[in-house]
Amino acid sequence: MMINNLNIIVFFLCLYSVSAYFTLLGKCPENVSLQEDFRLADFHGKWYQAYHYSSDGQQKNNCSTIETIHKHTGIYLNQSRVDRGLFHRFSLGRLEIPGDIEGGSKLDVTFTFENAPRRLKTRRYPFHILTTNYRYYATVYTCQYSPLINKHFIYVWLLSRRPLLNDVSKELAIKPLSMINVDPVKLVKDDNVSCNPKYYEDIETEPMTFRYPVPI
Ligand SMILES: *[C@@H]1O[C@H](CO)[C@@H](O)[C@H](O)[C@H]1NC(C)=O
Ligand SMILES: *[C@@H]1O[C@H](CO)[C@@H](O)[C@H](O)[C@H]1NC(C)=O
Ligand SMILES: *[C@@H]1O[C@H](CO)[C@@H](O)[C@H](O)[C@H]1NC(C)=O
Repeated sequence: MMINNLNIIVFFLCLYSVSAYFTLLGKCPENVSLQEDFRLADFHGKWYQAYHYSSDGQQKNNCSTIETIHKHTGIYLNQSRVDRGLFHRFSLGRLEIPGDIEGGSKLDVTFTFENAPRRLKTRRYPFHILTTNYRYYATVYTCQYSPLINKHFIYVWLLSRRPLLNDVSKELAIKPLSMINVDPVKLVKDDNVSCNPKYYEDIETEPMTFRYPVPI
């Protein structure tokens, strides 16, 4: 009985956090056309997160960058940022590269947490390239769907090779957002004023852009 009550409480806690995270009705957008002939080799290197959109409205970091890293075990994505203006943190996810050229922009990222319980150890999320010209801008999005409440979550990165995304690039970068029903006025500009926080953490942490650990 005791256990059952606890289970129910845990279930409602989960449901509560799930409904705060998944806010958009229905499934993830379908038939989204991604960048054609995507060349990962040209995407390599460092990108600044000039703007972002998080459908749950949360904004917990500034000064975000994304950088690809080559290791003998594969290509990784280093998502670095300043959390709450105080902590410099980064997350490392392994890029899962599609075998076929046509689906080349349909990347996934896998995060591995050695110390987590078994079903939370590996977490894989989409990281789909909507558009990029490699030299100036890239628009990437992820989407997660919750069958439990029939809602989804979307996060969009408007990436720039330079700290400032020029207007022409921004125009091109926001074009595909209509396909995933994201209104460009909802994009949030990343603040880069205080990018030298008090605390530096040099071990990898949980990614903030993919928050929900398991599909629910
Ligand atoms: C990830 O990027 C941050 C910021 O550039 C850096 O401090 C950190 O060392 C990088 N992590 C790895 C594993 O390269
Ligand atoms: C972003 O940085 C500003 C200072 O530049 C800080 O006041 C604000 O709290 C930061 N926002 C977040 C979400 O860290
Ligand atoms: C912050 O962004 C501005 C443009 O908005 C840019 O000129 C400046 O170099 C950036 N600073 C850093 C530390 O990235």
